[in-house]
Amino acid sequence: MNTYSVKELLSSDHLHKEVTVNGWVKTFRSNRFIALNDGSTINNIQCVVNFEDFDENLLKQINTGAALKIVGTLTESQGKGQQVEIQVKEVIVHGGADPETYPIQPKKHSLEFLREKAHLRVRTNTFSAIMRMRSALSFAVHQYFQKNGFYHVHTPIITGSDAEGAGEMFRVSTLDSKNPPLTDEGTIDYREDFFGKETNLTVSGQLEAETYAMALGKVYTFGPTFRAENSNTSRHLAEFWMIEPEVAFNDLDANMDLAEDFIKDVLSYVLENCQEDLKFLEQRLLDEEKRKPQAERSDMPLIEKLKFVVDNTFKRVSYTEAIDILRNCKPNKKKQFKYIIDEWGADLQSEHERYLVEKHFKCPVILFDYPAKIKAFYMRLNEDQKTVRAMDILFPGIGEIVGGSQREERLDVLKEKIKALDIDEKELWWYLDLRKFGTATHSGFGLGFERLVLFATGMGNIRDVIPFPRTPQNAEF
Ligand code: 4AD
Ligand code: MG
Repeated sequence: MNTYSVKELLSSDHLHKEVTVNGWVKTFRSNRFIALNDGSTINNIQCVVNFEDFDENLLKQINTGAALKIVGTLTESQGKGQQVEIQVKEVIVHGGADPETYPIQPKKHSLEFLREKAHLRVRTNTFSAIMRMRSALSFAVHQYFQKNGFYHVHTPIITGSDAEGAGEMFRVSTLDSKNPPLTDEGTIDYREDFFGKETNLTVSGQLEAETYAMALGKVYTFGPTFRAENSNTSRHLAEFWMIEPEVAFNDLDANMDLAEDFIKDVLSYVLENCQEDLKFLEQRLLDEEKRKPQAERSDMPLIEKLKFVVDNTFKRVSYTEAIDILRNCKPNKKKQFKYIIDEWGADLQSEHERYLVEKHFKCPVILFDYPAKIKAFYMRLNEDQKTVRAMDILFPGIGEIVGGSQREERLDVLKEKIKALDIDEKELWWYLDLRKFGTATHSGFGLGFERLVLFATGMGNIRDVIPFPRTPQNAEF
């Protein structure tokens, strides 16, 4: 009864009413002003205690991090900085937090320090803002697809196939790893494993999503994916969430249209619905920028950057055009890139992708028609016989945010591709069935959810936009 969230107290008219609120203490100043937060908004509610009315032992328990229930009257605030405050009548301590040992004190902690305290860092303003934005983006993703006639498909987490053919998979096994059963040839005998064969955590739900697109038309998956790539970068996780739409009868152009429209829609959603958190994160970045040398400062504040992406058309450029630009650009000629682009066919590194987006085109870029050799087996071969109908979307500050393609729908071409790559056709019998029974043009893409959250929050490290990051040598929580 009369229990409200901090957000409700700050935003609706409960003035002069007796109210109850629960939350955690951010600060307690002068034995008088409690700043209380419950996660419902970045803002705190100020609770004013008249210390003469309260037991000294109770007041001693009101420390940063303590969980409280507060009952009092909501009044107009006498002080600056807030419109309303609670004149406290009753304080109940749910649980204290020893100031000697509670790690999240009211001061600026480094992001590195907070990563070691992943279970408590969401109590800081920065992480609560990021995680509310993450939740809003997740909602916006489902809303976009649901309102556009897509069905949500739950693709399996444990699979017997390697969708990307990159071999970067985490094995799932119940065999005794120290003493596994062996075949006559001395290799591990997976026939005795739980599923009777080798299985892994999925790297992508695409192949399974394709099967559903070829019946339901428009589908999407949004689930965890796992990659055992040993890349310790600020853009890679071993466990990340991927959004993968797949659409029957869509060619590559329609796929690019869908991806661009989708990204703009979800960013518009947070621009409209996460204003307080965005403003907080923007200010945080501006403060951080002040400490950087001029040359490294970003030219656009966060909110303007998001609006820029929403309002401008992504530049579409073929891989071949991009290679020409890169070969002739200054950092390549002066050997300032770590990897020098000297010939057509080279795989682009993130330094090249970021050059194209940040220095050359100065807007999001969709690169398409990549060399077949550097892309996965399922992409549709072009007439030139050397490029495939692939597309990557590159974002400022991020690099690749989306990877997608038109799929190879011709059985004979696909079979040849599989053979050339030495993949066992028998493993993909069900995937090949789609090309035997009612095959059709279709396409889709994968968007790395954390890379989207990185962009939307302006954060610099992917470890800071997922609650419990999984990276090499790191699965503490
Ligand atoms: O480009 P990728 O590997 O494409 C696929 O997996 C396709 N099967 C998708 C499809 O067509 N349905 O991955 C897609 C996106 C990348 O563009 C990137 O945003 C993200 O997933 N990604 C990662 N994000 C975080 N950590 C990693 N290790 C990632 N690897 C890929
Ligand atoms: Mg990719």
